Formats: sequence, C-alpha cells, structure tokens
Amino acid sequence: MQFVHETNRLEGYTYCIRTFGCQMNKHDSERVAGMLDMLGAYTVETPEEADIVVYMTCCVREAADVRLYGQVASLKNVPAPKGRRIVAIGGCIGQRDGEMLTEKLENADIVFGTHNISHLPDLILSSLEHGTRAVEVLEKSDDFPTDLPSQREFPWHAWVPIAIGCDNFCSYCIVPYVRGREKSRPFEEIISELGRLATEGVHEVTLLGQNVNSYGRDLYGEPRFAQILEAAGNSGIERIRFATSHPKDLSIATIDAMATIGNVMPQLHLPVQSGSDRILQAMNRKYTAKQYLELIDSVRDRVGDIALSTDIIVGFPGETEEDFLATLRLCEEVAYSQAFTFIYSKREGTPAAKIIDDTPHEVIQERFDRLVSVIQASAYEQNQAEKNTVQRILVEGVSKRDSAILSGRTPKNQMVHAPLSAHHTIADLVGTFVDVRIDVAKTWYLSGTIVGS
Ligand code: 5AD
Ligand code: SF4
Repeated sequence: MQFVHETNRLEGYTYCIRTFGCQMNKHDSERVAGMLDMLGAYTVETPEEADIVVYMTCCVREAADVRLYGQVASLKNVPAPKGRRIVAIGGCIGQRDGEMLTEKLENADIVFGTHNISHLPDLILSSLEHGTRAVEVLEKSDDFPTDLPSQREFPWHAWVPIAIGCDNFCSYCIVPYVRGREKSRPFEEIISELGRLATEGVHEVTLLGQNVNSYGRDLYGEPRFAQILEAAGNSGIERIRFATSHPKDLSIATIDAMATIGNVMPQLHLPVQSGSDRILQAMNRKYTAKQYLELIDSVRDRVGDIALSTDIIVGFPGETEEDFLATLRLCEEVAYSQAFTFIYSKREGTPAAKIIDDTPHEVIQERFDRLVSVIQASAYEQNQAEKNTVQRILVEGVSKRDSAILSGRTPKNQMVHAPLSAHHTIADLVGTFVDVRIDVAKTWYLSGTIVGS
C-alpha cells in the first residue's frame, strides 16, 4: 500500500493524536502522524490547540470507551485555530461501532477502522473541503499499512507488525470480533522492513501481534516465529523485542531462538490471566497453571536471567477467593518483573458476558489491591539483582522530573536514570547506548552512574 499525495494540502493545519490501548495502536498512530506530516500539518500538544484531532481507540475494557466519549464531547465548544475542527475516531471503537459514533457524538466528523488508516488523509481532506461527515469501516483488508510514512515517537525505535487479528477467542475478549481472524504478514516483507529500519538507524524493534507465537500458521501451515527471530537476529538491529505471546503457542524453538540469538532481548511478556485451572478453562485459555509454570521453567532453564511480565484479570465471573489465591500463588512462584493487572470488564458479544456473577465490586477491588502488592514485591526483588552491575542502556531522553538526569532502558527493559556528566549533553546521548553502573534499585526503576558510552 503506497501513500501518494500532494505534500502541502494540510499546510498550516495543526493536529493532535490521542492513543489508547495497545502497541498496535501506537504503531498505527505513528503512521497517521507520518501521513499528516507529509501533507504539511504539524503536531501540537493538546486537542484544544489542534485543527485535526485523531483518536486511536481501544475497546478491550469499558473504561477506555467511557474516556473517549468524555474527551470528544469536551471539545465541542472549544474553537479550533482555523475555525472548524475535524474530529476523527479510529482504532477498535471506530471499527466496532462505525456509524453509531457519529450518531452519539455530534462533533465526530470522521469514523474509520483498523483496516483503512491509509484512507484517513482523504477522509480529512474531503471533510474539510465539503464540510461533510464520513464513516468508513472495512470488514478486512488485504494489506498491512507498511508502505505508509511513519513519524516514530523515537527515531531509534520501531514497531513492526508481523500479524494482525486473533483466532483464540478467550471468552472475555472482544479483540477477535473487532480485529478479525489472525492474518500474518509475508516473511520476506517483514525481513525487508527490518533491513530498511536498520539502515535508517533504528536500534530497537518490537515485533507486534496479538499472538506472535502462531505467526505464519495461516500462510505457511506452521508457525514460523522462531525463523522471524533468527532473521531479525541477522538484521543489524541491536535490540529485538516482541509482544504478545500466548502460552499455548510458545514453542521450544522460540525459546531456543531467544536463548541463542544475542540481540533478542531477555524479556518475555507471557500473559497468564489467572492461576486457577477452573477459571483458565472458563476463559478458554487452553493451558493449566502447571503447564504455564513448566513453560516458565523451561524459559528460565534455557534463556537464563530474563525479565518476565504478564497480564492478569481479577474478577472474572465466578472467580472465588480460592481461585484468586491460586493466582496469587502463581505470581509469587513466577516472581514477575512487571504485570498489567486488570479488573474484569464485561464486553457485550463475548461468551463471558453471559455468565452471571454477583461478587461485590469491593471484594474484587480488594483482591486487585492484594495482587498489586504481590507484583510490587516481586518487581522490587527482581530489580535488586541489578545492583552493582553495569547495564548497557539505550538512552530515551531525560527524566520527567529532572532534565539533568537521563533515562533509558536495560536489555530487560528496566527503566534506568543516571545524572548527565559535565561533558555530555542529552542531545549527544539520546538514541545511543551508554553503560551505567547501577547504584540504586527501586520497584519500577534503577538509578546509577554513567561509566562509558
Ligand atoms: N476485561 C479485563 N481485561 C481484559 N483483557 C482483555 N479483555 C479483557 C476484559 N474483558 C486484558 C487481558 C489481555 C489484555 C490485553 O487485556 O489481560 O491480555
Ligand atoms: Fe484477546 Fe485472547 Fe486473542 Fe489476547 S489471545 S487478543 S486475550 S482473544
């Protein structure tokens, strides 16, 4: 899919993109920014200052739905710099609700879906020209938005989608209904994109898919994720990461690839969702807690020191205290470096939405808080092991709190802060690798002293 346009059609217009949800949306937002930049628009910090506001939405949980409605409605009476503001809603809510969004939100001008971000500039231009509203949502697309320009948040980091959609139908999850069946991107296309990114000076790539481990099954009859890692290993890009993995599809070949390929980073996000077999079955996850733990053992045996992270849902309908305790025990045993914890959110159209549950919200909230404490304790413990080590970090910028302190990430993706030395400016270091001796290890970050670059 090529992007061919006269380059100045949005000259002088300002835009702002608000991104919710997963990394796929972040990737899509970078593509939208790339296209708008090419048309001459420039980015501003807030929707209020923007002539064009694009929402890349998520519908995995209800909270994001509610936030979107609030944010769009709040723009209604705020004038745009050039008079009329274009509000465009894309991503998963756009894909799911289409037309309904323009009915419910009177200031939504454009609704687009997850399959047609390349059409957004045309929809914007025609809305500006004719003052019309437009809804365009496609059932599916035959292309990946790979040839679209991209305005990357960090020039040295790129998201590379390798598959879209999901075939797993976990009983709580709306993704398969919204994003459609799993569709892998051809192997050669991914490899050539990695090569191109390497020549552009990208140092870190995150390979993306709802379930990267089953990559290739639809195209080649068998998963080929390990081969993707091998090829990525030879691409010249220093750091390769990937998300998300489904435990039922994480193969020994992939674990071995992680163990042997030096630039595949020692980090694995492996969503467990629950530690109770009863709940795992009701969730349609297709593994038991024991199988999950065995998988973790083989990852640690083969890869060695690695940061493990996960997703967990608390309050799945019918979850008892006993089920919840099984989740806590599993988390203690794995000792995660990080976990994304969610309170179950009922999504209409999914099988779990039909399960009646009368567990009071306070009980679920209290379990959630206990889970967060367990995760914080293991995150803290995991970070202690880095004290007095020297970590190679990829510098991202300065700390939010203090511009004299740089921040970057270790191979395990831990955040590191270190004071800038007298002979370095952040502009010299950003996007480069520096060595930092770790002096302090907190729950969510490390801090130390630069020892070389
Ligand atoms: N409620 C709460 N969390 C959910 N997730 C997916 N669907 C739901 C839901 N209905 C979580 C899962 C998944 C992550 C991306 O979002 O933990 O791994
Ligand atoms: Fe949703 Fe399960 Fe697919 Fe993840 S694997 S997107 S949780 S259905």
